[in-house]
Amino acid sequence: MRILVTGGTGYIGSHTCVELITKGHEVVIVDNLYNSNIDVLDKIEAITGVKPKFYEVDILDKEGLDRVFKENDFDAIIHFAGYKAVGESCVIPLTYYKNNISGSINLYECMAAHHVDNIVFSSSATVYGDNFEVPFKEEYGQGDTTNPYGTTKKFNEIILEDFCKANKDISAVSLRYFNPIGAHPSGLLGEDPKGIPNNLVPYIAKVATGELDHLNVFGDDYDTIDGTGVRDYIHVVDLAKAHVKAIEYAQRHKGAEVINVGSGKGYSVLEVLHAYEKACGKKLAYEVKDRRPGDIAVSYADTKKAKELLDFEVELDIEDMCRDSYNFMIKSQKNEG
Ligand code: NAD
Ligand code: UFG
Repeated sequence: MRILVTGGTGYIGSHTCVELITKGHEVVIVDNLYNSNIDVLDKIEAITGVKPKFYEVDILDKEGLDRVFKENDFDAIIHFAGYKAVGESCVIPLTYYKNNISGSINLYECMAAHHVDNIVFSSSATVYGDNFEVPFKEEYGQGDTTNPYGTTKKFNEIILEDFCKANKDISAVSLRYFNPIGAHPSGLLGEDPKGIPNNLVPYIAKVATGELDHLNVFGDDYDTIDGTGVRDYIHVVDLAKAHVKAIEYAQRHKGAEVINVGSGKGYSVLEVLHAYEKACGKKLAYEVKDRRPGDIAVSYADTKKAKELLDFEVELDIEDMCRDSYNFMIKSQKNEG
């Protein structure tokens, strides 16, 4: 298939391009490089032997996007492009709604105008909000989101559902990711956010490399194994493989579906910290702080639907995730230094 990948130079998008190319698909990337680097194209080429076609286009630029559709005959779309910082979305909500919703609507309009029928959308476990019992099941629907970022994911799922109801040829799969971490085993692709990371593993990774001196653990009084928050971590390479299966599924299916993509297992903050200590071979300092507002105690996926519809199951575990994350950090430091 010839697949348009929006946000394809980003963290999850770049890993997905590698898996798509490896499976023989042709990839065309659209990204405005807001949160990624053009060098990613060379890295994808170094891993796969193929440099994807690239357009530096903002999905808010409808004409630019339309040109991309005119110049390429796509079979399918994987839509990653968007802003993703939960805290920032509370400070600049309109910017988030504009980028993640108006940008997506531009894309869906181009899809309709150019008769591209299949799309996979990056949704998030955040749409379950604080409303449901674990494991989170797709049939719960959507809960009350606690921040504008989460609301943009919820709205996109609803928009795609309505789009499918009105256009019987369209197939839209919203993948609800749990917590993607890790990096490509080559050490060439991964996530190294600028500044102080918001998310757990990028933060621990900077403690491991000495850029930060300790981890702040947000709360140790939850009703969990050791009092710290529990999440369902998934290796980004497994997540990328789920996209290949999802886009193939979208081709043989019509209508809207939402599917969880997680491991089905939860790990506490301290369990992840200890797994990372094993990967980097040293003790990592931490301090317990107050709970982070908006956090829930426990989140993990019911993975049955992914198994049934996509024949997808994770292959990599928490040790692989920490090992590959640390390998990427060390390799990036060497390249910078
Ligand atoms: P990322 O920031 O690394 O990748 C997103 C890419 O989209 C970046 O390369 C960015 O430059 C591009 N982009 C942003 N706005 C754009 C625009 N207007 N036009 C063109 N390109 C634009 O993020 P990621 O972690 O790879 O996440 C990919 C998708 O998955 C996002 O939609 C995110 O919300 C969703 N998601 C991520 C997580 C996570 O924990 N990483 C969890 C759930 C869902
Ligand atoms: N945590 C710490 N210290 C930190 C960072 C996080 O103790 O410095 C804890 C959090 O309190 C939580 C766990 O580590 O218990 C995981 O936190 P993350 O910020 O890594 O991930 P979240 O589960 O809060 O959210 C992430 C993404 C969201 C996405 C959600 C579900 O940030 O965008 O996963 O996919 F919606």
